[in-house]
Amino acid sequence: MVKEARISSGVPGLDPLMQGGFKRNSVNLIAGEPGSGKTIFGMHFLMEGCKKGECGIYITFEEKKDKMYDDMLSIGWDLKKYEEKGLFRFLEYSPEQVKKILVEGGGMVDAMVEKLKAKRIVIDSITSFSLLYEDELTKKEAALSLFDLIGKWNCTAVVTSQARSVDHESVMSAALEFEVDSIILLYHIRSKDERIRGIEILKMRGTKIPEKTFELVLGDNGIKVSKKTVVF
Ligand SMILES: Nc1ncnc2c1ncn2[C@@H]1O[C@H](COP(=O)(O)OP(=O)(O)OP(=O)(O)O)[C@@H](O)[C@H]1O
Ligand SMILES: [Mg+2]
Repeated sequence: MVKEARISSGVPGLDPLMQGGFKRNSVNLIAGEPGSGKTIFGMHFLMEGCKKGECGIYITFEEKKDKMYDDMLSIGWDLKKYEEKGLFRFLEYSPEQVKKILVEGGGMVDAMVEKLKAKRIVIDSITSFSLLYEDELTKKEAALSLFDLIGKWNCTAVVTSQARSVDHESVMSAALEFEVDSIILLYHIRSKDERIRGIEILKMRGTKIPEKTFELVLGDNGIKVSKKTVVF
């Protein structure tokens, strides 16, 4: 059997825990509370592509471009440079605009993905988009058609989802409302007098996963997964 090529997540220490990386053309959900590292995770994924000459598109409803470029520079990622090279694109869309793209079956993003030959997409976050839809069914349908589009574009995606509060239940429910290929949970939980960060691969289709929560270390170069396991 030919070993399937995996797409590196770009997060140091994570790929070995998921048989080398994400599956090609998969949609991968990163869920966590505010400040847990979702945006930085998404950027690791895109920057990994940029280093290999693969274009990535970052779609956001919340972040402002200038601020984001400044923040990421502090981690050592020069988004402007990659943008100029045609390897990175920052799209600030309103949820309504994304809804329109869905209705049009791709619309202007189609042309952009084709022109840039984009391989990686990050949607940060899906939460405000899903708030556009009132009932659970239409919400699920909208998310599914968005994920179908990503498949049509031949891209591998990281989609973030915001948990309402810090508890495990809330992080879990922010993840489970979408039908995706994999779910990764990011924790930032108080333990005694300090907060500990953790990362858990909750599910990943067709992939053996560790069933453990590992410590997540946040530093000057972004996040990395340590070999140490944590128990909350
Ligand atoms: N250069 C840096 N060095 C160290 N820590 C940083 C740096 N830049 C950001 N951080 C920290 O990283 C943490 C995680 O940030 P990130 O924006 O990825 O979280 P998030 O899960 O996307 O949050 P939100 O839900 O609010 O968007 C923040 O608490 C921030 O203080
Ligand atoms: Mg964020």
